Amino acid sequence: MNEYEKLLLQNKSWVTEKIDQDENYFIHLAELQKPEFLWIGCSDSRVPANEVTNTEPGEIFVHRNIANLVVNTDLNMLSVLKYAVEVLKVKHIIVCGHYGCGGVKAAITNHHFGLLNKWLRNIKDVYRLHFNELDKYENVDEKTDALVEFNIIEQVNNLAKTSIVQNSWRNSEYPVLHGCVYGLKNGILKDLITIYKNSPMDLLYKFDFDSIIVE
Ligand code: CO
Repeated sequence: MNEYEKLLLQNKSWVTEKIDQDENYFIHLAELQKPEFLWIGCSDSRVPANEVTNTEPGEIFVHRNIANLVVNTDLNMLSVLKYAVEVLKVKHIIVCGHYGCGGVKAAITNHHFGLLNKWLRNIKDVYRLHFNELDKYENVDEKTDALVEFNIIEQVNNLAKTSIVQNSWRNSEYPVLHGCVYGLKNGILKDLITIYKNSPMDLLYKFDFDSIIVE
């Protein structure tokens, strides 16, 4: 049996286990998706959204990419964000990074990673914003973890800069934006930042929806 066949087999035993606990488990699950959270996390296999938050399928809408970035030209992320905010009407958006992030660590090297260079550039740009604080670290793992935190905070701010989030804030107090960091070594989620509708933001990034130039 290969690895893939093993996965399919594990799926069967999971189904049996769930039905043993609640015979209507999948019937209820299939009825309606009404998650209150959008999770934007790292693709790292060790940080699965449902497991680390002890939630069930149906509770969190999930988008993951390398180093949990919110890049304002990323059609994939923007599509997920738009659907989550405007259709699912999630109340909370969580950017979750993690200490020891390989993407963040790679970004502070000078290695050439081919296509990935373009993605990691976004993290290098976050480093540049905080180089005063980051340059003082001599230990690369400590420097990585400090940049992991700065990166999460930057990505939460990037969410606040999107017209999708700002448009929702015109008529609602939601979504509330959160940033937290996951500890691979202890399993703890540490809260870093919360941005509300009325939190101060750089005015340059605030859209005036009454002056639409291009729809
Ligand atoms: Co990572």
